[in-house]
Amino acid sequence: MALLEIVKYGDPVLDTPGEVVTEFDESLKKLVGDMFETMYEARGVGLAAPQVGVSKRLFVMDCSGGHDPSARVALVNPVVLNVEGDQTGDEGCLSFPGIFFAVKRSLRAVVRAQDVRGEEFEFDGLELEARCMLHETDHCDGIVFLDRTTALKREMVRRKIRRLEKQGRWV
Ligand code: NI
Repeated sequence: MALLEIVKYGDPVLDTPGEVVTEFDESLKKLVGDMFETMYEARGVGLAAPQVGVSKRLFVMDCSGGHDPSARVALVNPVVLNVEGDQTGDEGCLSFPGIFFAVKRSLRAVVRAQDVRGEEFEFDGLELEARCMLHETDHCDGIVFLDRTTALKREMVRRKIRRLEKQGRWV
């Protein structure tokens, strides 16, 4: 397995809807394995393929931080089937290092996806898992969490990123 480079906000791949995955082959398994390794190394709970420069509809997630094997899941071609309730809490993104702000999400989400063999399954997530699945499914659609906040907050975050860019700290 190999560590992949995580792209930062500003890279057009993050604004591009990913392609549907149609080949459930060894290269998909390798990509998923590498994405898990990259996510754990970066201490994230979710990572979508566009974040490693691969414009495809899939993400990996483990909201237990590697402690609970049943929380480790790869969702290929995710579709949000059902959502319920609301939650508001701070959210981050590995493509926005050091940036956290409150985002309103559904409290529960049921997502249908395929596994690395192409088998369909549903994942029913509450709280952090729901937040994570909705955030990562957004990545598959070319949407980032900055698109889910107010225009004012968006402008503040963009200004902060421009400052970091000028200091050479956003590369
Ligand atoms: Ni993200």
